Amino acid sequence: MKHLIDSIDLSVADIERLLDLADDISNHPVKYQDACKYKKLATLFFEPSTRTRLSFEAAMLELGGSVLGFSSADSSSATKGESIADTARTVACYADIIAMRHPKEGSAYVAAQSVDIPIVNAGDGGHNHPTQTLTDLLTIRREKKRLDNFTIGFCGDLKFGRTVHSLIKALSRYENINFIMISPEELQIPEYLKEDVFKKNNITLTEVERMEDVMPKLDILYMTRVQRERFFNEADYVRLKDSYILDLDKLETAKKDLAILHPLPRVNEISVKVDNDSRACYFSQAMNGKHVRMALILDLLGVQV
Ligand code: NCD
Repeated sequence: MKHLIDSIDLSVADIERLLDLADDISNHPVKYQDACKYKKLATLFFEPSTRTRLSFEAAMLELGGSVLGFSSADSSSATKGESIADTARTVACYADIIAMRHPKEGSAYVAAQSVDIPIVNAGDGGHNHPTQTLTDLLTIRREKKRLDNFTIGFCGDLKFGRTVHSLIKALSRYENINFIMISPEELQIPEYLKEDVFKKNNITLTEVERMEDVMPKLDILYMTRVQRERFFNEADYVRLKDSYILDLDKLETAKKDLAILHPLPRVNEISVKVDNDSRACYFSQAMNGKHVRMALILDLLGVQV
């Protein structure tokens, strides 16, 4: 692996290698504390972020490396009209690896074409978010001890939610996963995923509107927020934003070992009362994000420990 742009770039072997390494890092952090000494990570975030940027930065710091970068387009030369390719080429003179988030689909790919150092896509518009996928896979593997043979429900904004798109692609590589999509009709997964992932691989896709109808079947429930920033008009967002609110009543019929995931940030879609339920995994998921990003940085930089 030279870059990580799309979750479909990850083979099952890549995923296993990275998740095993993430487990080893979290069990033996001291072993890795100087692994990236004198290496620099640049975080180029043209869009807001809390977990992704800070977990990337924490990951590099815990590997003994350093970080530089910007956290909004306003503070970069993008406001002066600089292209993504030129920004990437410039930053490649100052850093060993780049994590980049940008509102335009395909932006990380463009950056990767322009430089020799590894580029990690930290979210490109409504398209992809492969490091969140690694985070989600690590969380599922830690909770369920497997990455196959389960029923997963994706709920919320499945149209614009890039974490959903990326995770679906990665999970399509595993056996016997039952995919249930829970969304209003307007927020269903994009047509290209229905064709390229489900039809092409002969994977059954179930689409429903009511969460209650499928709750008892689920082993994993992947909640998402409605992606306000990708809507064309505010009225549609306001109409759809509270389509789903997961609360303790709705969990009555759920399995006792259901794992509730959410990439976060949460808006209204999970009641805070659910946070103390043993099935809520979203904060440990955020912690897992640091460990997989540490593993990914080591892998892409070719550092052996
Ligand atoms: C997600 C994203 O940026 O796509 N957040 C994250 O990275 N954990 C999900 C979201 O913003 O809704």
